[in-house]
Amino acid sequence: MDYLFGILVLLCGAVQPGRGDEPKHNVPRLKLSYKEMLETSNLVTFNGLANSSSYDAFLLDEERGRLLVGAEDHIFSFDLVNINRDHKQIAWPATPSKRDECKWAGKDLGKECSNFIRVLQPYNQTHMYICGTGAFHPICSFLEMGKRAEDNIFRLASHFENGRGKSPYDPKMLSASLLIDGELYSGTSADFMGRDFAIFRTLGDHHPIRTEQHDSRWLNDPRFISVHLIPESDNPEDDKIFLFFKENAMDGEHTGKATIARIGQLCKNDMGGHRSLVNKWTTFLKARLMCSVPGVNGIDTHFDELQDVFLMSSKDPKNPLIYAVFTTSSNIFKGSAVCMYNMADIRRVFLGPYAHRDGPNYQWVPFQGRVPYPRPGTCPSKTFGGFDSTKDLPDDVITFARGHPAMYNPVHPIGGRPIMVRTDVDYQFSQLVVDRVEAEDGQYDVMFIGTDMGTVLKVVTIPRESWHDLEEVVLEEMTVFREPTPITAMELSTKQQQLYLGSGLGVSQMSLHRCEVYGKACAECCLARDPYCAWDGSECSRYFPTAKRRTRRQDIRNGDPLSQCSDLQHHGGSVEDRSVYGVENSSMFLECSPKSQRALIYWQLQKPNDDRKLEIKRDDRVLRTDQGLLIRSLAQSDTGIYHCQAVEHGFIQPLLRLNLQVIPAQRLGDILPGLSSAGGGVGHSPKHRLWYRDFLSLLDHPDLNSVEEFCDRVWKKERKQKRVKTPNGNSQGHGPRLELQHSQPAAKWRRMQENKKGRNRRTHELQRPPRSV
Ligand SMILES: *[C@@H]1O[C@H](CO)[C@@H](O)[C@H](O)[C@H]1NC(C)=O
Ligand SMILES: *[C@@H]1O[C@H](CO)[C@@H](O)[C@H](O)[C@H]1NC(C)=O
Ligand SMILES: *[C@@H]1O[C@H](CO)[C@@H](O)[C@H](O)[C@H]1NC(C)=O
Repeated sequence: MDYLFGILVLLCGAVQPGRGDEPKHNVPRLKLSYKEMLETSNLVTFNGLANSSSYDAFLLDEERGRLLVGAEDHIFSFDLVNINRDHKQIAWPATPSKRDECKWAGKDLGKECSNFIRVLQPYNQTHMYICGTGAFHPICSFLEMGKRAEDNIFRLASHFENGRGKSPYDPKMLSASLLIDGELYSGTSADFMGRDFAIFRTLGDHHPIRTEQHDSRWLNDPRFISVHLIPESDNPEDDKIFLFFKENAMDGEHTGKATIARIGQLCKNDMGGHRSLVNKWTTFLKARLMCSVPGVNGIDTHFDELQDVFLMSSKDPKNPLIYAVFTTSSNIFKGSAVCMYNMADIRRVFLGPYAHRDGPNYQWVPFQGRVPYPRPGTCPSKTFGGFDSTKDLPDDVITFARGHPAMYNPVHPIGGRPIMVRTDVDYQFSQLVVDRVEAEDGQYDVMFIGTDMGTVLKVVTIPRESWHDLEEVVLEEMTVFREPTPITAMELSTKQQQLYLGSGLGVSQMSLHRCEVYGKACAECCLARDPYCAWDGSECSRYFPTAKRRTRRQDIRNGDPLSQCSDLQHHGGSVEDRSVYGVENSSMFLECSPKSQRALIYWQLQKPNDDRKLEIKRDDRVLRTDQGLLIRSLAQSDTGIYHCQAVEHGFIQPLLRLNLQVIPAQRLGDILPGLSSAGGGVGHSPKHRLWYRDFLSLLDHPDLNSVEEFCDRVWKKERKQKRVKTPNGNSQGHGPRLELQHSQPAAKWRRMQENKKGRNRRTHELQRPPRSV
């Protein structure tokens, strides 16, 4: 029997004072620990090799059903269905001589002088291109995979090439790369000292091209996040490469910020200049990416530390939606934000004024003069003007381009502000992937946000009126690594409906949805507002938007169980009833907590012979906690029926009815000898308190109607037993006695906490909440 449920405990400090009345908009609806994720089979983990770390160069290979992961000295190939099922690995360490050189150069042999894989890109139908830091001596090679999964090939080529301009030397440097049409675009540092930063194009048939060297106007200590190809028109000649990075503000750029986030652009067909900017980009432009929240006194809170970028592709490949994760630069004020950008705004900024200054002591201003033709940043193509190659660009265009790499206007996010901000938590965002999910009432973007504490937040943004007014619902917060560690890589497979996560500790895999966790009632499923899940008539399960399944219940936009679960309306009487007993003048805990962390608990008391239910107000004696109601020093007048109800998203859901009887201390002394000798303060000595706890937990028998009935039963049982012990440990020769099994209060409390999570509560009565809630 589940007598832990609705149990009555005398509490000795186990309950934290409640945040019971605060709004819970930012709280995840469900919080799942690492243990819970594993136990419910919602997490598969690869716990890494003892001689490796940095599992963060991910390449999702849907065709072959593999996840390739580059780590320290190793390359892994995992099965996308289950990463724990016979993975393959190749050791690719730096050579002993390179390790020695690295050590002699003063680097940390254990932490820096390995081969950290930094580039892992598809090359052709059979090969991947792969580069590593090679103990401060970057190297690249080809990884052979075969044409199809059945070929079962996973082999590193024996031929290595120089990785300079492809992979950084220093594993701490943030770099990014993209391999397209046999050419590798890399934002990285290209020297041992880590001072020569550049955006390179290497491989392929052309001469390598890079950004102007040692010109802080072009790049100023950049940290690269990602590289993407985005077409500008239907003509491939206009294709552009976009880079996301952060860097130090330009000299004279009065942003008041040390770090600023950037988006950079290049033409894919840029071949460099003819007389000047030879083998340098002639179409490079950059603009600031803004993500800030207006402050009360006109001072905005800026999120400048770009952490990750995700491109949500749409039907139109020219206009993906850009999601970006930022944190604050400040050490004092920790915060994270997600901002969303569209390509139209980005293109407008690149077509707007260039940032210009007349000399080192001047400020950057919008350039007002005549811009040479063709406008710098335009790709050579038939679409926008008749020139065939950047080598044909007039000298004035090249000169202007060299001196004006930055745009004056920043790119503002959609809606002018972040779609999500976190400032009052002990973690920061580090990674992001987004899934577009088809639901009954439309399409929703579900964000999976990785944090620096090894957790993942699953968040759905629901438009209230428009894209400019989004409601953010944190569906779940899950711990996916065994220790708090920054999540450094994330890939989502829509085909597998799985999410893959990388960190310094290993690789984890989890499903995009766990519908059954929301509960066994239609209302719980509906209130969850998870676009992946719907009520199918008997359980909360995966929603598939097919015509046949019209009967499925789901309402993401409003989460209104009344409209969806109408069959359950006004169907009272099935809420769990419990009888509990408390002793006068002792404390008493009425346990009741909702499965959803977003729900508030609303307590009402119905006194004997009274139909009215009165809200229980907080006072000196009554403490509302997230786990239940704590009543200090019970009085006779506390007798009655306690209605525990969850209030979420404007709906009341009865959870439990607790019928509390307060036993007069005097009466208890009469019926249980040995107690009266405790003298007045019943339960005041520690020994007695312990005894009471046991006694009272035994009392928690739902089918008992009174103390007398209980005692009657115990006594009957008692008479059969031989060894007799009283509460104070002395054997007594007369009267009714109790043999007490001493339970461990701490263990019991833990069990209660654990039970709470897995418990299902039936929900039948649904009603609009009273105005006071
Ligand atoms: C690391 O250990 C694994 C076995 O656990 C071994 O296969 C691999 O070769 C080792 N790697 C290096 C670089 O020594
Ligand atoms: C892919 O590239 C590798 C390395 O250059 C080459 O050996 C291989 O033949 C190529 N495969 C195909 C199918 O072109
Ligand atoms: C209970 O507490 C009240 C007030 O502190 C006190 O007057 C009363 O005697 C106590 N009753 C018992 C049985 O200890």
